Amino acid sequence: MSSPLRPRLAAVLALALGVLLALTAMVMRPASAASTLDQLAKAKGKYFGSATDNPELSNSAYTAILGGGEFGATTPGNSMKWDTTEPSRGSFNFSGGDTIVSFAKSHNVIVRGHNLVWHSQLPSWVSSLPSTQVQAAMENHITTEVTHYKGQLYAWDVVNEPFNEDGTLRTDAFYNAMGSGYIADALRTAHAADPNAKLYLNDYNIEGTGAKSDGMYNLVKSLKQQGVPIDGVGFESHLAIQYGFPTNMQQNLQRFADLGVDVAVTELDVRMQLPADTTKVNTQAQYYTNVVNACLAVTRCVGITIWDYTDKYSWIPGTFSGEGSALPWDENLNKKPQIYGAISTALGGTGDGGTPTPTPTPTPTPGSCKVAYSANDWGTGFTANITITNGSSAINGWTLKFSYAGNQQLSQGWSGTWSQSGSTVTVTNASWNGGLAAGASTSVGANFTYSGSNTAPGSFTLNGTACS
Ligand code: G3I
Repeated sequence: MSSPLRPRLAAVLALALGVLLALTAMVMRPASAASTLDQLAKAKGKYFGSATDNPELSNSAYTAILGGGEFGATTPGNSMKWDTTEPSRGSFNFSGGDTIVSFAKSHNVIVRGHNLVWHSQLPSWVSSLPSTQVQAAMENHITTEVTHYKGQLYAWDVVNEPFNEDGTLRTDAFYNAMGSGYIADALRTAHAADPNAKLYLNDYNIEGTGAKSDGMYNLVKSLKQQGVPIDGVGFESHLAIQYGFPTNMQQNLQRFADLGVDVAVTELDVRMQLPADTTKVNTQAQYYTNVVNACLAVTRCVGITIWDYTDKYSWIPGTFSGEGSALPWDENLNKKPQIYGAISTALGGTGDGGTPTPTPTPTPTPGSCKVAYSANDWGTGFTANITITNGSSAINGWTLKFSYAGNQQLSQGWSGTWSQSGSTVTVTNASWNGGLAAGASTSVGANFTYSGSNTAPGSFTLNGTACS
């Protein structure tokens, strides 16, 4: 006869083992299950991309991020446009576009082709043609370029920015020669050359409801009724905080989707009048959140592309004097914690994205923690970005302390609990990033105001131990 104590002992042992395994798993798990923006988007059935351009591909720090997993899609900013690809009639040059496609392929990134027919960046030989020759030139351009990239691109912006602000079609070389039918002709020509590429019309200031958006809506409805091959509409989304967020963006995307086309945010950036300050950055973060939420809420919104990821290569300062700071990475290729965090959080992530994917996991230095500190300074305030790397022993809960020499004053922190007493700043872990395995890292950030000088803190302690 077996003792009644045996089953109870076995159950207790099993429970203890389970608890031990669970605790071990908690300690071993990285500080934050870091997910890139594209990984988060993919989990929701969408992509997250960044435009790029050929000159910046020679910057290896830039390409490490572009191809490092944050982005699952890219769009060439210039090198597939008509002025580059067919600068004189019948003479084609695809080298710049080929370079980007090759980069994308080797980094498992899809490409949106941009663009085939556009009134801008159009070589003068096209606009100087007799109107009787424009259709043949347009069809030849589309056929040659789409055939060159056949099977290699996810989508094409076939006609770019065809509308005036009042919702009428621009009277450009194509409209003047062929009337509104040039758009259907362009789409049919592209479809014949690559039946598998998604064919888009793309425009700006159509993100919210209004006359221009209505113009695009009526055009797409009519094209669908005629059986013209159109797969999607691109909403560029070059937003500016001083002009307000587009009206009813989500509902607007949805009404297009209800016509039976995909929708995509194709060129997102959110600019501001410089210098940046806390209020502006808060508004900007909200705009990014709103765009992500709008896309997530619409099943046929296939993805979001930002118009390059870093202020270093943004088109904005060259076009809008005194404006900028529009992208989630700063001029030094550092993530802006609040903007990146807003996008990541809206996509369902932890907000910090962890350490950049291409950076190999640092080898832990026995015994000592490490702190990397950077500040994005706008003269009267700054964002401090701090990455803590744990030493050789796993910890479960941490407190970081450091001091400023000047009058820096904390206004808002994230990814931890921040407080300040005199010049000493204390950060304790958030609920999700307290467990740090040996050598594991986590990032925190905060905004500060200051006057006078803004020197970086000279030393940091983690749980009372000095870090290098
Ligand atoms: O290539 C020349 C270079 O040889 C010359 O030295 C230099 C001097 O300014 O100019 C270079 O050309 C520039 C080109 O970008 C390539 O860098 C043009 O000046 C400049 O105007 C052009 O700007 C591009 C702009 O389209 C033109 O409209 C931006 O990079 C590009 O990001 C922007 O993208 C557009 C989308 O295609 C459509 N939607 C709006 C978006 C923003 O404007």
